Amino acid sequence: MNKATRYTKSGCRHIVDSLDLSPAEYADLFSLATKIRAAPSEYASICHGRLMATLFYEPSTRTRLSFEAAMLRLGGRVLTVADPATSAVAKGETLADTIRTVGSYADIVVLRHPKEGAARLAALYAPVPLINGGDGAREHPTQTLTDMFTIQHFKGRLSDLTVAFCGDLRYGRTVHSLIRALTRCRGMRFILISPQELRLPAQIKEEIKAADPQARIEEVTAIEDGLPAADVLYMTRIQKERFFNEEDYIKLRDTYILTPERLASAKQDAIVMHPLPRVTEIAAAVDSDERAVYFQQARLGMLVRMALIARLLEVI
Ligand code: NCD
Repeated sequence: MNKATRYTKSGCRHIVDSLDLSPAEYADLFSLATKIRAAPSEYASICHGRLMATLFYEPSTRTRLSFEAAMLRLGGRVLTVADPATSAVAKGETLADTIRTVGSYADIVVLRHPKEGAARLAALYAPVPLINGGDGAREHPTQTLTDMFTIQHFKGRLSDLTVAFCGDLRYGRTVHSLIRALTRCRGMRFILISPQELRLPAQIKEEIKAADPQARIEEVTAIEDGLPAADVLYMTRIQKERFFNEEDYIKLRDTYILTPERLASAKQDAIVMHPLPRVTEIAAAVDSDERAVYFQQARLGMLVRMALIARLLEVI
């Protein structure tokens, strides 16, 4: 793995942002995850004797269990804090202290935190590799790893694709991470489908334009205006927990509902992705359509996290 990106004083590698991994590292992780998928038993004890701590200060099922399953399938072990109310944080401990302490017990730490920038701060103090499992509405780099691996797996390439993002593009951190990483790929076109209130933040649009002045981005509000051109439809949940008031959430929560009738206008070889959990934005009747790949996406996420853990622990 190319170690040229980010280091802290303690010299270990942290993954805070989807751009912390170089394109070559993404490719390396996809290739390792593919090998693990083909022959899992060959990797079943490479993390023997290693310990991962998962510190989740915000609800999660998938990300935490996906990391824990990944570590267990590599033969390592896991310590977890899933309920901050029962940890020393409830006594007023700072994140810096928590990370230094947990980092002295475990060989690798995964952190999810409601505050944007928490993972960046934690990485300054972490004595072992730290992985951002989501910080507020900002970043979620291992979901991006999952999403890019899924696109590569089903579409066979990470270039020359039209990707439509639909739903809460304002608060959805998986969208923020993924679109920034996809901007580094060739020939991409982005269609942003959202209500006016939940548009992609201007700062991210500016970042995309700065990284690629040729970037093709269109904004629409109706799903029908974006769906037919999409090779990838990336559906998202309206992020209830990030709204300041319930009324605004209620007004917007059912804006998009993907049904089999709507999906009829999509390309035959399009794929429908979702980071999950889904609420109402994809009707259950869509699940049996072969273009719906979200549960396979979750499986691929575990495999690519196995690859990431193995590389960060340098066991392979
Ligand atoms: C996402 C997250 O936590 O940002 N979920 C996940 O990690 N699989 C998306 C979401 O919560 O809507």
